[in-house]
Amino acid sequence: MKSLVKNLVETAAPSGFEKPIRDLILAEIGVSSTDQQIDALGNLIIRKGTRTPTGKRIMLAAHMDEIGVMASFIDEKGFIRFTNLGGVFPVHCVGSRVKFLNGVEGVIGMDKLDKPGLPTLSQLFIDVGAASRAACPIKIGDAAVFERPFAVLGEQWVAKSLDDRIGVAILIETFKQLKETPHEVYFVFSVQEEVGTRGATTAAYGIDPDLGLSVDVTRTGDTPKGIMMEVALGKGPAIKVRDSGMISDPQLVQALSAIAEKSSIPYQLEVLEAGTTDARAIQLARSGVPSGCVSIPCRYVHSPSEMVNEKDVYNTVNLLVKFLSESLPF
Ligand code: CO
Ligand code: ZN
Repeated sequence: MKSLVKNLVETAAPSGFEKPIRDLILAEIGVSSTDQQIDALGNLIIRKGTRTPTGKRIMLAAHMDEIGVMASFIDEKGFIRFTNLGGVFPVHCVGSRVKFLNGVEGVIGMDKLDKPGLPTLSQLFIDVGAASRAACPIKIGDAAVFERPFAVLGEQWVAKSLDDRIGVAILIETFKQLKETPHEVYFVFSVQEEVGTRGATTAAYGIDPDLGLSVDVTRTGDTPKGIMMEVALGKGPAIKVRDSGMISDPQLVQALSAIAEKSSIPYQLEVLEAGTTDARAIQLARSGVPSGCVSIPCRYVHSPSEMVNEKDVYNTVNLLVKFLSESLPF
């Protein structure tokens, strides 16, 4: 799985420009055209299993997009001002490198600040080494992502865009390992999550599922002077109870926890105070869908060096495969 993850995180695909990841997934899991669909927004939807009398129609979602930036203004000297695609924090920007989708690389610099402290995004610019606006190889609307290679630090994997390429890799692996299921399972690789769970919104409407589950990263409370949060790296997948956009269906939380315990898979319960996932969009689709989320604990979310634990990754696959192999108690 490690080389798949490396491929996924080293591919550039910010919100709205997810095609390279979609192509990678299709190359990884070739399925018949009747079981797969790319909808109007670009969500990749792959179906597996036929619903038995005790089964449900289940939508799983992991988002293909990553946070990024977009050129909004270019001055006469060729310096590029930019806007954000999703949650880009200035604290991670200065000195970072970005790569535009046309291959051009740039460095983020900042204006001289009037008083000490953090710059705002509008006080930052991208320097692509151009001598003038006329010589600048970037045009307005061009998108870029942070540039950082995949690294292995002991048991931890570090990369940009582990949010949510790690979820994409887990869904691919779950698809491959799932042999028998009483359910009709829709593996949805969604677009535009980072700009407001837009892809999952339309995918959930189209699929009309009985149950929704997103697979995404969550924050942790295990770093020095970090946030007050129970979730830690290496203690297993986190079953979401609540985040700032959703309260998970209690029966689903209970069913996931019971399966983890029965299968001796370590797990944690998650309460996240800021942030949400595609599960919110699924939950609010049509007349409402019982939904939840299995989270991969991740340090430094939305920085160019996000960190997950490899055992957590494998345990998340194990939990999902077990969960989908059985009928639900509700
Ligand atoms: Co995110
Ligand atoms: Zn995410």
